[in-house]
Amino acid sequence: MTVFVIGGTNFIGPYVVRALIEQGHSVTVFHRGHTQADLPPSVQHLYGDRAQLHRFQADIDKVAPDIVLDMVAYTETDAQSVIDVFKDRAHRAVIISSMDVYRARDILWNVESGRLDPVPLTESSPLRSQLYPFRELPELRSEIPADYEKILVERTYQNEPQLPVTILRLPMVYGPGDYQHRFLGYLQRMDDHRPAIVLESSIANWRGCYGYVENVAAAIALAVSDERAAGRTYNIAEPDSLSEAEWIQTIGEHVGWGGKVISLPAEQMPETWQVPFNSEQHWIADSARIRHELVYSEKITRDEALRRTIAWERTADSANFTPSLDLLAYGEEDELLKHL
Ligand SMILES: NC(=O)c1ccc[n+]([C@@H]2O[C@H](COP(=O)([O-])OP(=O)(O)OC[C@H]3O[C@@H](n4cnc5c(N)ncnc54)[C@H](OP(=O)(O)O)[C@@H]3O)[C@@H](O)[C@H]2O)c1
Repeated sequence: MTVFVIGGTNFIGPYVVRALIEQGHSVTVFHRGHTQADLPPSVQHLYGDRAQLHRFQADIDKVAPDIVLDMVAYTETDAQSVIDVFKDRAHRAVIISSMDVYRARDILWNVESGRLDPVPLTESSPLRSQLYPFRELPELRSEIPADYEKILVERTYQNEPQLPVTILRLPMVYGPGDYQHRFLGYLQRMDDHRPAIVLESSIANWRGCYGYVENVAAAIALAVSDERAAGRTYNIAEPDSLSEAEWIQTIGEHVGWGGKVISLPAEQMPETWQVPFNSEQHWIADSARIRHELVYSEKITRDEALRRTIAWERTADSANFTPSLDLLAYGEEDELLKHL
């Protein structure tokens, strides 16, 4: 098949493109040229901004795509512009969404109150009732637009009967190239020979859904290749969700860290410390549907995934790394440890 990938050159995209080429597909990546990746030589590049996609219709006709894979649809407008160009040119779309569509995300971030949503989240779990999740958190995601809304992206694609869509809801993705450096906060503490990492107990016990980038990319490539995915929505996540304390312990074992994870009740944390989210709400996703319908399973074990991630983190440029909100400053942590 010929796959037209919008994006494909930053973090998850290059792994997806390589997996598609390995499966024998022809791939064209459409991107601005701001990021470059080490992609197989057979991959064609078409340079442009997705906001101007309509100007590339003649180039897209030459590519003659079977499938459009939209790696970076953030807004309703993003989705509509792809539909307008591809509904008469491709027979299917695959789009990358996020677990942030679920209401559990807003309960977690104290945007919605009320009862906790049951986990694991399935594809039919309730969605957020308030749109534009990053409007109130610009400091967290400066690179994404204020009108970011994957719910509207999904809905816009779903409303177009001429271009059946596969929606893939991604978890927190880790691995080489992860510009969010998801585990770096823990790894740095281990590399700094910290004797302990102190977590407030509800955060120590909190479980979120993660996925290793090569496994996530394989799931995306599978959904592109398998026609049974048309019209379906799939969660992608590891089958077991570790707690934050378990992640720290697992990473610690990999790097031979001799320290301990110390979990403290909120009243023993420093007075200035506040839990920034409602950690009673777990964010675990059920990925049974893609496993059964498309016969997906992880090929890279967690051990190997962490080995590759840690090796990369130790050499990576982490200039854009934002330290975890839930970890104490070293001085505060030292002060607490003196009294335990
Ligand atoms: N990372 C996670 O944990 C996570 C979790 C949930 C969901 N997701 C979703 O996963 C998707 C993949 O993210 P990724 O960064 O790994 O994808 P990627 O496909 O590796 O990189 C983003 C691509 O988009 C291109 N791009 C950005 N703005 C563009 C524009 N205006 N016009 C044309 N091309 C543009 C970039 O190239 P140029 O810079 O050269 O234009 C790059 O190729 C996103 O939709 C994200 O929301 C990620």
